[in-house]
Amino acid sequence: MSDGTEKPRGRLSGKVSIVTGGASGIGEATCLLFAREGATVIVVDIQSDKGQALAARIREGGGKAEFLHCDMAVHAQVKAMIEYAGNTYGRLDVLVNNAAVESPLAEVDTTEEEYDRIMDVNVKGVFLATKYAVPLMKRNGGGSIVNISSAYGMIGSPGFAAYHASKGAVRLLTKSTAVTHARDGVRANSIHPGAVDTPLLREAINTNPDPQRFETTVANMQPIGRLGRPEEIAYGCLYLASDESKFCVGSELSIDGGMVAQ
Ligand SMILES: NC(=O)c1ccc[n+]([C@@H]2O[C@H](COP(=O)([O-])OP(=O)(O)OC[C@H]3O[C@@H](n4cnc5c(N)ncnc54)[C@H](O)[C@@H]3O)[C@@H](O)[C@H]2O)c1
Repeated sequence: MSDGTEKPRGRLSGKVSIVTGGASGIGEATCLLFAREGATVIVVDIQSDKGQALAARIREGGGKAEFLHCDMAVHAQVKAMIEYAGNTYGRLDVLVNNAAVESPLAEVDTTEEEYDRIMDVNVKGVFLATKYAVPLMKRNGGGSIVNISSAYGMIGSPGFAAYHASKGAVRLLTKSTAVTHARDGVRANSIHPGAVDTPLLREAINTNPDPQRFETTVANMQPIGRLGRPEEIAYGCLYLASDESKFCVGSELSIDGGMVAQ
């Protein structure tokens, strides 16, 4: 595993990228890696302080990054996000639809409002970003859309009803985008992480009545017997964002310590 100190190889040189939910966890690791590999990174999030700090950190390290506030559940903001990339850089090469929210609740305990909130961010946000990104990508010969689904978009588990529904939707929305736009040079692929040690998972662990036991249980859901690290997902994003993956169209990349292989 990389410790993040190996030499960058410019795998994304010259590319303009948007990473939604870029201020934290997997998104943060992806922004850092993309910048290191030569991309211009637009860090998108609702956490402005964290997002701005990350963009500043990337710039201080010699990378190209800026922060843009956007709530992925709000149509006008998502449209403005893509327009911003077009107006500022004249292009968009990579879109990582990573922002998401989750709830551990089963159907019977999930309110309609909570269901709508999760679907709005996790599915409608991906749909809207894709809707506006595709024409911009096509203008410059294509691009790569990387949608972060989940192992929970492939298999069921107790609870997490709305989250499962949302991540399953992202999985097939990705394939729809992929087959529709393959000949436009726009590729779409999904990534399906297992349990990864990020603030999202930490919150679930820390609010459990028995955090230690819960963490061990979650780690053991994966044959590898540990939680993933954000960087381990970011490397998958890097591959799918780069031209190295140009024959990958509508594929599903599981990065999950073996969770769905069982
Ligand atoms: N951590 C895991 O175990 C795990 C497992 C499978 C899939 N995933 C997926 O990976 C992705 C990243 O998750 P993470 O664990 O890094 O979570 P995280 O909570 O650390 O990061 C998610 C980011 O999304 C942002 N966000 C939330 N709502 C938003 C909105 N409406 N508009 C814009 N930004 C918004 C948050 O502010 C946060 O910065 C998500 O799609 C998640 O479903 C995570």
